[in-house]
Amino acid sequence: MATSPTIRPHDGKLLVLLPGMGAVATTFIAGVESVRRGLAQPIGSLTQLQTIRVGARSENKNPLIKDFLPLAPLGDIEFAGWDVYPDDAYDAAVRADVLTQQDLAPLADFLHTVKPMQAAFDPAYVKRLDGPNVKQTKSKRELAEAIRADIKGALAKSGATRAVMVWCGSTEVYLRPGPCHASIEAFEKGLDNNDANIAPSQLYAYAAIMEGVPYANGAPNLSADSPALEALALEKGVPICGKDFKTGQTLMKTILAPGFKARMIGVDGWFSTNILGNRDGEVLDDPESFKAKEVTKSGVLDTILQPDLYPDLYGNLYHKIRINYYPPRGDAKEGWDNIDIKGWLGYKMQIKVDFLCRDSILAAPIVLDLALFLDLAGRTGMKGIQEWLSFYFKSPHVEQGHVQEHDLFIQHIGLKNTLRVLGGAEPVTHLPEDLREA
Ligand SMILES: NC(=O)c1ccc[n+]([C@@H]2O[C@H](COP(=O)([O-])OP(=O)(O)OC[C@H]3O[C@@H](n4cnc5c(N)ncnc54)[C@H](O)[C@@H]3O)[C@@H](O)[C@H]2O)c1
Repeated sequence: MATSPTIRPHDGKLLVLLPGMGAVATTFIAGVESVRRGLAQPIGSLTQLQTIRVGARSENKNPLIKDFLPLAPLGDIEFAGWDVYPDDAYDAAVRADVLTQQDLAPLADFLHTVKPMQAAFDPAYVKRLDGPNVKQTKSKRELAEAIRADIKGALAKSGATRAVMVWCGSTEVYLRPGPCHASIEAFEKGLDNNDANIAPSQLYAYAAIMEGVPYANGAPNLSADSPALEALALEKGVPICGKDFKTGQTLMKTILAPGFKARMIGVDGWFSTNILGNRDGEVLDDPESFKAKEVTKSGVLDTILQPDLYPDLYGNLYHKIRINYYPPRGDAKEGWDNIDIKGWLGYKMQIKVDFLCRDSILAAPIVLDLALFLDLAGRTGMKGIQEWLSFYFKSPHVEQGHVQEHDLFIQHIGLKNTLRVLGGAEPVTHLPEDLREA
């Protein structure tokens, strides 16, 4: 067995901090409470349901991940969050209309207790929202300090020993890293000067890292994805990861495309369109927020299919993505994919995927897994960008110079081998026994 890294035990409670208490966050909170009460199953969550093979296949040792590693148990999770709207988790969940009244009613007493703190919000970065539960101070430095005070206050109120933060807020307008993102000093100067390139999600990420709180970014926002905050995370010893939860259509893409590539099947075109009618869809109806989403969704196929290595198969691939806001659908999104593929001697074929998907149902277990794995990483002393968590993201946050991995199956192997090593086991190579070193 390899030596196991030292992992601090999970004494006491873990506070999960959620900037943005909309569809995803409330589906997550209600789901965890529902599972805790024995009313439902945590389907979709690796930390709760998946096993991990340890040793040779013939040894038949397959413990649950949560038994193999000292993850925080669901019973020890506390919740706090921020939102632009003052609705508590129950009212916000009813409004989001993801879970049925039948599922929410038994949880109402608990959900009413989770009330959002005032948001650090600026409509310049999310054009379609305008709510009253917003901090009045406008200076970015003061907002960042106010979020830090909120984190300390929420920790004290909950009695938790530690926290993690998972951004479940809206998609902000597309921003590129600017001079204020070049270093910690430049970023802090930007806070003092109210630099327009610093959006609210960056303030939450900064505050979390300053407070030693691991941070995951579930939206395409720049957030912690800048040299300044990456350096800060290393300096403060805090794990970070992102960006944009891999749910619906992109999940399907990263399941199907590796299969085509593995079998050397060509792809000429991939047209993806969506209709959705929730608040996320309304925010994405703004072209500037859509741009941010389009960028995280677009990179997926190129890195999986590698057209530079396989020009005959993928060199002319035409990839188009559309998101259409269509209110009658609410959270019950529909995503269509038309895939033009080609086989032996170039003969053409087509695949149509019509995914009647519930985005927040797919996203909620991701929030749970990220919270528990980031907490584990923090207790193990892992810091900076956690590429092993790429499995959960549309556009994995990677070190400068590293190439993103989008193939779900390679990401999965990477995730599980990291978990094996954290638990003191050998990584699995999948080599036949006679080729393995003695
Ligand atoms: N639903 C999914 O499956 C999915 C998948 C991938 C990514 N995402 C991303 O996750 C995020 C949440 O999705 P959702 O469906 O829950 O959206 P939602 O609109 O239901 O919830 C987002 C919430 O964030 C709040 N908010 C916006 N800016 C804020 C700020 N600065 N501070 C605090 N609160 C703020 C909004 O008021 C809203 O209630 C979005 O960015 C979305 O693009 C969602």
